[in-house]
Amino acid sequence: MRVDVGLGRRSYPILIEAGLLDRAATHLAGMARRKRLVVVTDENVAAAQLPRFAAGLGDIVIEPIILPPGEATKSWSVLEQLSDRLLDLGVERSDHIVALGGGVIGDLVGFAASILKRGCGFIQVPTTLLAQVDSSVGGKTAINTRAGKNLIGAFHQPDLVLIDPTTLDTLPHREVAAGYAEVVKYGLIDDPDFFAWCEANGPALLAGDAAARTHAIAYSVSAKARVVAEDERETTGTRALLNLGHTFGHSLEAETGFSDTLLHGEAVACGMALAFRFSAAQGLCPDQDATRVGYHLARSGLPTTLAEAHAIAPGARLVEHMAHDKKMEGGKLPFLLARGIGETYLAKDVSLAAVEQFLDGER
Ligand code: NAD
Ligand code: GLY
Repeated sequence: MRVDVGLGRRSYPILIEAGLLDRAATHLAGMARRKRLVVVTDENVAAAQLPRFAAGLGDIVIEPIILPPGEATKSWSVLEQLSDRLLDLGVERSDHIVALGGGVIGDLVGFAASILKRGCGFIQVPTTLLAQVDSSVGGKTAINTRAGKNLIGAFHQPDLVLIDPTTLDTLPHREVAAGYAEVVKYGLIDDPDFFAWCEANGPALLAGDAAARTHAIAYSVSAKARVVAEDERETTGTRALLNLGHTFGHSLEAETGFSDTLLHGEAVACGMALAFRFSAAQGLCPDQDATRVGYHLARSGLPTTLAEAHAIAPGARLVEHMAHDKKMEGGKLPFLLARGIGETYLAKDVSLAAVEQFLDGER
């Protein structure tokens, strides 16, 4: 399947197909100068998927750069090392650096590509469900700093995205479930039928069903491509809807130190459950919709309460974490709330005191 992200001269295709990694040469031959490609990945992905990718590239020679796995890799120091290494390898503006891995590698490599020689090309080959349904598409790239997550970055679109759902076969189950939260998100935003599809097919997807995985990826990518084409830089509000659950989620991630205690997708799951319960508590959304959302996420093995997220903290403390959110505008924080399943909207007038009180109740 092919989905195009329509951005004029910066448009690019996303190819989704089981076994694509084994046939990578077909798609990358024209993008490898002198039959060489720099491939940046992490140690886990290098062990699980790099040999396969290398074999699929046939006579294209790989220059591998293998980084430590984990969120800490999205840092100034690793960016500096990576940039120096790319310069040492003689990467030119017209080259395409390959990011083979999850959202950490994709975000870091995309940012490095955005600044290397004032911007060179890059290709996303996502290997986690989260990266396949969300982070590899749309050109948001970033690193983390002392002040917070993703605060230094750029919009820099890839030239190609290659998604092979079979790479998920080596991904730990907990990571698959975390990525699944971002799949459910697309239904909750504006498609109740897709949420119902998730309720019916989520268990099979999580158990490894290939058809369910491919359908979820193709649906998610198509939905994201449409949003990105409409609002690339999150200026009109359309792209902001993709942040459903992220403001609550971000505060939970901050509370747990952006660590393996709570994965990004798990924080988003709990954040979406909280956003629906908050909407219901404000009388905006039927209680039964909030219950249905929480039930499906919990049944998928995802945290839906502060306790399950390991973030039992006073409401004031969690709201304080939100104040560092980069979406803060003139001292106000826009929230994504819901009128029901598939009816998410951006609310700019939410009182932080009400959020604090709600979180104290959740505690
Ligand atoms: P990740 O990149 O850390 O990958 C998760 C773990 O799985 C890592 O240990 C990795 O080594 C391992 N792994 C990856 N693929 C594997 C495979 N096929 N087999 C075995 N192990 C594998 O995490 P993630 O969840 O993919 O990404 C999270 C990051 O994405 C966060 O930094 C988040 O901020 C970012 N993100 C960015 C966007 C965006 O639009 N740019 C959107 C959502 C999230
Ligand atoms: N992951 C949210 C976005 O790409 O806008």
